[in-house]
Amino acid sequence: MPDLIVLTCASGKQCAQIIPLLYNDSAYCLRLAVNSTSSLERLSKQYPHAEVTQADLQVPSDCKKLLDGASAIYYVGPTFQPHEVTMGMNVIDAAVSESRKPNTKFKHFIFSSVLHPRISKMLNHDRKKQIEEYLVEAPLDWSILQPSHFTDNAMGQLMAKRNEEKPVYMAAYDPSVKFSFTTLRDYAEASVKVIREGPKHFFATYEILSTWPMDYHAYVKEVGDVLGKDFEIKQLEYGQAVEGFCKTVFKADSLDEVDIRNREGPERMLLYYNTRGLNGNPGVLEWLIGRKATGPGDLAKALLQEQGNNTT
Ligand SMILES: NC(=O)c1ccc[n+]([C@@H]2O[C@H](COP(=O)([O-])OP(=O)(O)OC[C@H]3O[C@@H](n4cnc5c(N)ncnc54)[C@H](OP(=O)(O)O)[C@@H]3O)[C@@H](O)[C@H]2O)c1
Repeated sequence: MPDLIVLTCASGKQCAQIIPLLYNDSAYCLRLAVNSTSSLERLSKQYPHAEVTQADLQVPSDCKKLLDGASAIYYVGPTFQPHEVTMGMNVIDAAVSESRKPNTKFKHFIFSSVLHPRISKMLNHDRKKQIEEYLVEAPLDWSILQPSHFTDNAMGQLMAKRNEEKPVYMAAYDPSVKFSFTTLRDYAEASVKVIREGPKHFFATYEILSTWPMDYHAYVKEVGDVLGKDFEIKQLEYGQAVEGFCKTVFKADSLDEVDIRNREGPERMLLYYNTRGLNGNPGVLEWLIGRKATGPGDLAKALLQEQGNNTT
């Protein structure tokens, strides 16, 4: 019998890269958890051999159904949700119940967290710190993966402007603040290794980073060199950045439509990123995946090649 792996936020950026690495493997069946009906429809078409299911992670009975019969869960929490901690705890409780069923197959809880969850000034980090605490105290075999700011986030804007004569990269925060980036394809490869190898990674917490600290001037220059473009960098005002970010994340037409409880996460993160970034070391990732990690320039090259292949 194949192992049933549950993935949450299955429509999101992380799972978009993880699912294809597991989907055609006969050792696994996938249960893909979504929130919206549009994602339910999209993923059902895209992955007809997977079980795609809508679950409200705030509802404990939905979480129990999600874990029913599962061998492992790869848990990604939804972006900037004020109830993120409750959702994480509900899913952990459901995994504990599943692991206590007679003849249970449940083996592994993998939490996709964030780099330095101890940074309490950012709600999206602080909430994950609380979930990590609940998980490490749970009677489960767990692994925690901590990605940083995704390399892929800024790539869309740069690729979209690559044919402009005088392209300008609009930075949402001070471009001289340094970050270690995590490239989604590296993260997916590391995540799948942890899923596949299971016990070898029990009780491990891994910081998964693709780059040493670098600022957006260096990032944009590296990508610009690959694209053959000299990008000017301009910084959005804080208020504009918050508005743009909230409209995208919460699919709203204006900031007024976004509940203050949702807005607080991006507000604090963007304020933090104007003075401090997220710094770490790519050594753990390179040890896990056994190859050099993918920097911004490497990612731009790969995307150009893939786009070229798709048009031929
Ligand atoms: N962006 C970064 O640079 C970064 C870096 C490190 C960690 N993270 C963390 O990554 C996580 C998000 O993962 P992602 O980037 O793969 O997702 P994403 O691309 O931001 O997509 C958002 C996901 O959240 C789901 N969602 C929204 N509201 C929900 C709700 N009420 N209940 C359940 N699911 C809900 C959406 O599902 P539907 O499509 O079904 O609505 C979608 O799958 C967040 O916890 C974030 O803090 C992000």
